[in-house]
Amino acid sequence: MPLTIDWKNLGFQYMDTGTYVAAAFCGGKWQALETRSDPLMKLHVAATCLHYGQACFEGLKAFCRKDGTVAMFRPEENAARLSASARRLVMEPVPAELFVEACTQAVRLNRDYVPPYGTGATLYLRPLLIGTTPRVGLKAAEEYLFAVLAMPVGPYYKDGFYPVKAYVQESYDRAAPQGVGNIKAAGNYAAGLLGDMEGKKLGYPICLYLDSGSHRFVDEFGTSNFLGITGDGRYVTPDSHSVLPSITNKSLQQIAKDFGLTVERRQIPITDLELFTEVGACGTAAVITPIYSITRADKVYTFGSEKEAGKTLTRLYNEIQGIQFGDIEDRHGWMVAV
Ligand SMILES: Cc1ncc(COP(=O)(O)O)c(C=O)c1O
Repeated sequence: MPLTIDWKNLGFQYMDTGTYVAAAFCGGKWQALETRSDPLMKLHVAATCLHYGQACFEGLKAFCRKDGTVAMFRPEENAARLSASARRLVMEPVPAELFVEACTQAVRLNRDYVPPYGTGATLYLRPLLIGTTPRVGLKAAEEYLFAVLAMPVGPYYKDGFYPVKAYVQESYDRAAPQGVGNIKAAGNYAAGLLGDMEGKKLGYPICLYLDSGSHRFVDEFGTSNFLGITGDGRYVTPDSHSVLPSITNKSLQQIAKDFGLTVERRQIPITDLELFTEVGACGTAAVITPIYSITRADKVYTFGSEKEAGKTLTRLYNEIQGIQFGDIEDRHGWMVAV
């Protein structure tokens, strides 16, 4: 039966497509990938992922191009980041080939759910790695489960590429200085929920976190990296151990260089917010969210117009989306055909 999905009005929400792929690590090796249809899985009640947070994940997208072909954006980068997360949490890293193969299969098996070109929607892939060995003493698991879910998604924020107001959340930190902020540990997101919720109650859809050691420097937003554009055309992004190395940010830095902008990766004192004419939050889900203002206690920093994104962010956004949807030449070899 043909699917009846309103592609243009999809939100960023879970959808059960009826198919995902998974592989188990047991007996000291990765087992073959299997296709699963039941989203409810049997998990030991004492599994390390439940008690000791041995859980990490990834997020990437597949795009339908004008000619109907489908391609994923930089999956090897997500594979490398999941490995880094696994190593830091003393979990079994997923080999890059297995990661890319699982993502490829998840897209192929869910081909009907890939939103058509022109709708702006995409197929979101959610790779997940969890420790499954039962333990009550603190020790890493010996068995793991790796799964890749796929589902069609629309914009992360309902208005899409439209400026939002941000709030500096200082009551709670997102990541300790030598902690796990630089990996995609599932627990980071639970730790950030309360701060995000309080920001939302105050009317700010997005929270900015400072370095937790001194609260003097910009770290990142709750689920995206920080980037600022100066009046003289520099692309500035924080150099911090506790920021997640965003693949979108890395790609935008390359595009900024292609455009002839200077890219600076450095500590950004909060007072440097004065320097920026445009600020963006970047990540896979929203690509770039233009930030109109950042409120810290009674100080409000504003950037450009409340009604539309600035010129440089718009150019960067159009370029990366053009590459992803195949309208602009993939000059850096980022797209992997499925
Ligand atoms: C905390 C955090 N920072 C940044 C990002 C953006 O990373 P990426 O561009 O790889 O999606 C994400 C999303 O994955 C995130 O959760």
